[in-house]
Order: sequence, then structure tokens, then C-alpha cells
Amino acid sequence: METKIIKVNDANDTDKLTVAADILKTGGVVAIPTETVYGLAASALDDSAISAVFAAKGRPQDNPLIVHIDSLDMLPFVARDIPKSAYALAEKFWPGPLTMVLKKTDNICESVSRGLDTVAVRMPSDNIANKIISLSGLPLAAPSANISGKPSPTSATHVIEDLSGKIDAVVAAYDCTVGVESTVVSLVGKKPRLLRPGAITAEQLSRVLGEVEIDSAVLNELKEGQKAASPGMKYKHYAPWATVYLVEGSSDKFAEFVNDKADAVAVGFLEDKNIEIPFMVYGSEKQEITLAQNLFKVLRDIDKKGYKTAYIHAPGKKGVGLAVYNRLIRAAAFRVIEL
Ligand code: TXA
Ligand code: MG
Repeated sequence: METKIIKVNDANDTDKLTVAADILKTGGVVAIPTETVYGLAASALDDSAISAVFAAKGRPQDNPLIVHIDSLDMLPFVARDIPKSAYALAEKFWPGPLTMVLKKTDNICESVSRGLDTVAVRMPSDNIANKIISLSGLPLAAPSANISGKPSPTSATHVIEDLSGKIDAVVAAYDCTVGVESTVVSLVGKKPRLLRPGAITAEQLSRVLGEVEIDSAVLNELKEGQKAASPGMKYKHYAPWATVYLVEGSSDKFAEFVNDKADAVAVGFLEDKNIEIPFMVYGSEKQEITLAQNLFKVLRDIDKKGYKTAYIHAPGKKGVGLAVYNRLIRAAAFRVIEL
């Protein structure tokens, strides 16, 4: 199929965004920008549109999708038995990069929830995403708009590289500001549980919710036969073709370690010094948000530049660092080197 590229400057391009919304209303699949990563959107009420999303991405069949809404009015349409804690989080962090897992209503079709009785919901803060939801009048299911398993797309170019010819349209706008996918927190168990770290940090959630459990899959590989609270956590993810190693240690030790790896690329911080092999910077060690912004672009660049092996300097696990670490440990297929 031919993929229509809809170039948009901002949310005031109403005519163009209406074209995108109309494609969605008639069961089409459209990649759209959000503040986190580009999403591959389709009506959450339309089974066949959702099947097309899974087919275009090559997504594992048991991995449910996040549903995007544009207002709190839409929440009871998609979720039921909504706890007070959900409204407290919405008040503080919506619109924004936070997804809540809640009990689902029958309006959400089976192919979104993949057999679970829950639905993951978020209200994006990006103006274009919001306007497309409003113009379509639909809750939109949207996974990241990449080929399953590859680094997520933070620019329209990344989406076009992965999905051109496989989807109806791309709303091509600016690069994403956050750079990593939303924080996912489950509110259906006894205690709130962090399933995927993101720009809304565990520390921020705790200030609203009290104790938040961190699911073991955030930092650890699932064991054979272990059930995933968030099915997406069990798959190899975010990985370039190159073999990636995540390296923990000081700047001095990192430089000393990588300098005899002649055929590889080192990926590290602005603050890293004395690296004598090819080196790519993904942000400042002191500002984790910059690491999040550049992470997926750098992972894609490793392949574009033809490197077969990459050694990536690991960030700390506090704040947004946890989200970056969570993506990197998967990109590295859990190969961690401690110096
Ligand atoms: O920032 C984001 O969340 C982006 C943008 C497009 O909004 N979307 C995104 O979707 O990252 P995706 O499909 O790449 O990741 C969704 C994650 C997966 O790990 C999936 O398993 C989990 O959310 N998930 C979805 N529904 C769930 C549910 N009902 N219970 C537990 N986990 C769920
Ligand atoms: Mg994804």
C-alpha cells in the first residue's frame, strides 16, 4: 500500500489533521507524534483496524495496546471501577507521559486487550496527538510506531524507515520531546505497581500513591515460564542489529575498558573523556532527561553507521535514569558488564 505522508507544523493545521482523523474513523492505521514516541494509531473500537496495527509492526499477538484519550470524560467509556488513586494521578500528571492500567469496559475491543480484563490508558500532552483524538472522537489504541523489537521512533523519519508501505498514513511533525515511552503503572492489584519506568518517575508516583512496587521485570530478565505483568516486558526490545553491551562504571574505567575494543563503537556521556575508539554521545550523565531524548536515535545510528558491536555507558537508576536503564538493558539483551 502507499503510505500517505501528511506534513504538519503544529496543531493549528486543522485541515491536515482532519484528513488523518478521517482515515482513523474509517478503520485506517495512522502514525502520529506524541510527546514520548511516535505512535501507530487505530480506533480502539475496531477489531480489524487493530489487527492491521499488529500486522504492520509484526507485534507478538499477546502484547496488549495502550488506549489514548483526550479528556477525563472519555475515561469511564474505556475503564470501569476506577479507583480514587487514578483520579489523583490524572490530576497531577495528565495530560502527560503516564499510562494507568485499569479494569476495562466492554467498549474496548478484545484485540486491544489481548484477553486481559484490563486496559492501559493514557492522555497525551502533545497538541497534535490530542487534536487527532478530538477530531476522530475515538479512543485511539497506539503502540510505538516501529517494527516490533527495534528501537522506538522519536522522529517521523524513524517511522517512515520502519513502516513505509505498511500503513495508511504518517502525520509527520517535529521530533518527540520526551524520547522514551510513557511510564506504565498498574492500579488493579492490591498495591500500585510500576510496570514500565518513564519520564514520570517512581519517586513522583510515590508522592501521590504512597508505596509503589517496582515490578521485577523492570530491571530483570523474566525467568523461563514466569508470567509477565506487562506482556511487553518479556520480549527482546529496543535492539539494534549490532550486539550491545551495557557497561557500568566510572568515566575513567569506561574509557580504559573500551579503548582496546578497536572494531566497536562506544556510546556514552558528554562528561566521558579520553575515548580513543569511535564515540557517540547520548546526553549528559547529570541530566538524565537528555539521555532519554537521544537514546533511540543513537541506538538507530549504531546500525546506520555500520557498527557490529556497541559498548554503552550505563546511566544511574534514579529518576528518569531508571527508564533509560530499562530500555538499554533490553537493547543489550541483559548483557551487563560491571567494571
Ligand atoms: O508512550 C507510550 O506509551 C507510547 C505512545 C505511542 O503513547 N506507546 C507505547 O506503546 O509505548 P507500546 O505498545 O510500545 O507499549 C505498551 C506497553 C507494553 O509493554 C504492553 O505490554 C503494556 O504497555 N500494556 C498494554 N496494555 C496493558 C495491560 N492491560 N496490562 C499490562 N500492560 C499493558
Ligand atoms: Mg513499543
